[in-house]
Amino acid sequence: MQFLTFVLCLSVSVAMAYTSQQASRGEKVFSMKCAACHGENGQGGAVPAKFGEYAGMKAPPVAGPGALPNMETAQNVYSFLKNHMPLQRPGSLSKMEALDIVAFDLKANSDKALTMKELPSLKIHSGG
Ligand code: HEC
Repeated sequence: MQFLTFVLCLSVSVAMAYTSQQASRGEKVFSMKCAACHGENGQGGAVPAKFGEYAGMKAPPVAGPGALPNMETAQNVYSFLKNHMPLQRPGSLSKMEALDIVAFDLKANSDKALTMKELPSLKIHSGG
């Protein structure tokens, strides 16, 4: 039992550890290219008037309660960003920018309890 607890702690910390540097880069990109619609803290909101035809659309939260309502995995988030965001300029993010933002999203959403459902997707060894 003690061993199991240790393994669980390890997997969570390792899964999150490698993201921290990327996450802070991701946070910068987020505040430059995403926060106008998704909110300074990623809480979501309405697209502002300056975005013309997109104004008034609902930008879902990407951090905090109810974040990323339609995303199942980090891969989903990456692909969505790379192909569809920012809304007014889809396809404009570099691979690194998109990856950094995913790291930021993971970190911003990691402040929650571990659930059984997540166990299979949390990697012990960050390399694989
Ligand atoms: C002009 C406003 C606007 C900007 C800028 C913008 N978004 Fe969005 N975003 C939206 C809207 C509106 C939606 C929902 C509509 C849709 O799914 O196409 C959305 C959906 C999303 C989703 C899907 C969440 C889910 O679970 O459905 C993610 C993730 C996301 N945006 C991330 C980003 C990131 C990261 C950036 C910056 C690189 C960004 N967005 C920039 C308006 C914007």
